[in-house]
Amino acid sequence: IAAWRAGPNPFDLVRPDIELLSHSIKQLLATDHAVLSMAAQHFFDRQTGKQFRPTIVVLMSRAVEAAPLAPAAHGDASPPPPDASARPSPPPLEHVPGVRELAPPSAPAPAPAPMAAPRTPIATSAAGTTTTATAATAAAAAAPSNGADTRSTAALAFASAREKQYRLAEITEMIHTASLIHDDVLDDADTRRGGAAVHKAYSNTVAVLAGDYLLARASLMMARLRNIHVVQTMARSLEALVQGEIMQLRATPEERMQLALYIDKSFFKTASLIAYSCKSAALLGGHGLDSAVTQAAYDYGYHLGLAFQIVDDMLDFTGSADALGKPKLQDMALGLATAPILYASNQFPELQRLIKRKFETRGDLDRAYALLMQSDGLARTRDLAHSHASKAVAALAPLPDSEAKAALIHLCYIVLSRDK
Ligand code: FPP
Ligand code: FPP
Ligand code: MG
Ligand code: MG
Repeated sequence: IAAWRAGPNPFDLVRPDIELLSHSIKQLLATDHAVLSMAAQHFFDRQTGKQFRPTIVVLMSRAVEAAPLAPAAHGDASPPPPDASARPSPPPLEHVPGVRELAPPSAPAPAPAPMAAPRTPIATSAAGTTTTATAATAAAAAAPSNGADTRSTAALAFASAREKQYRLAEITEMIHTASLIHDDVLDDADTRRGGAAVHKAYSNTVAVLAGDYLLARASLMMARLRNIHVVQTMARSLEALVQGEIMQLRATPEERMQLALYIDKSFFKTASLIAYSCKSAALLGGHGLDSAVTQAAYDYGYHLGLAFQIVDDMLDFTGSADALGKPKLQDMALGLATAPILYASNQFPELQRLIKRKFETRGDLDRAYALLMQSDGLARTRDLAHSHASKAVAALAPLPDSEAKAALIHLCYIVLSRDK
């Protein structure tokens, strides 16, 4: 994986864009309700978020810009084709948690069949697609603005696909932040991003409303992209986030022991937002729903997001060991069994009992940690993260070489090698 480092540092490459983006989100959050505005800006002011997601969206936008547009496979009048890139597709809520057979993580759904013939750039093809930037721009400019909308209409008078992609990066970070504000209420967390969680600094009421408000603003911005496929894709990512939380909440003792369910939950909770955002970046770049470029963008986000979450779960055991001289074990303390423990339980079935009872009996945490250390759980978890990072790199193959693509590959290295 050392070769992945050849490209530019992803964060350095887009730093100026991301700085503008933070500023622009703050302006967008101006509202008549001072307390909501304060609560929502609470996060964006401190600038302690890693801004992973907008960084990826900006890089992906540039990477797909270099790819030729495939000819439209269907006209504007025909219904959209089945959404091949949307997998795993969220089941209806009433089926959660469902008894679903999932492909093992090392063998996810097969990649789309390669295009039979190399695609030729067709200069006029964009006009035939349903994602034409110019048409939407005209519509945005022509749209009447009214009352409270005036302020942001000026900011959102889109001129180009690239500008829309920046709006998308903002939308993604706003959705992510909204989910964290709500998550801290659900988890009763005291701190976030180096300060008090919103519900601690204000109240539960304010935190719920601030999260809702961020989502409402993000939804408005989404609508203004004037691209129904992007709205649908991002709406699905919202559904997935909620679904991930519900899966975690309602998992039965048996389900808590299944690696497939862990992967599925990790997709919903973490990878979905970045996968759907990457897909949307391609759509806004003029690539069709069924194009290899759009699929590549989705697959990259899917695998990178999973790799990130798996590394995160590994660091819960190994990360603080160096700093504190003892493991942090936060996940197990919350009753969560992540990849390292699940792998270890194959080797030491004794762990199954502990997982099922959420490590709640006295001594469970120490016993589980001791067994994990005797097992190959951490090594197998590292392999799993490695395998997803490799798939993320491989997914980029359909995109032409570019600085942005090289930076996206570099990001896979960073995700695997980070130690905190
Ligand atoms: C906070 O996000 C943590 C989560 C949402 C849980 C898991 C998420 C990750 C491990 C990061 C996912 C990364 C990618 C590439 C999809 P955060 O750690 O990004 O928080 P921040 O925005 O405050 O930095
Ligand atoms: C962090 O996970 C939380 C998430 C990744 C998603 C939270 C989603 C919701 C609360 C559903 C509502 C969604 C929206 C869009 C408002 P974590 O608790 O495992 O990680 P942490 O250690 O960073 O808290
Ligand atoms: Mg939490
Ligand atoms: Mg949580």
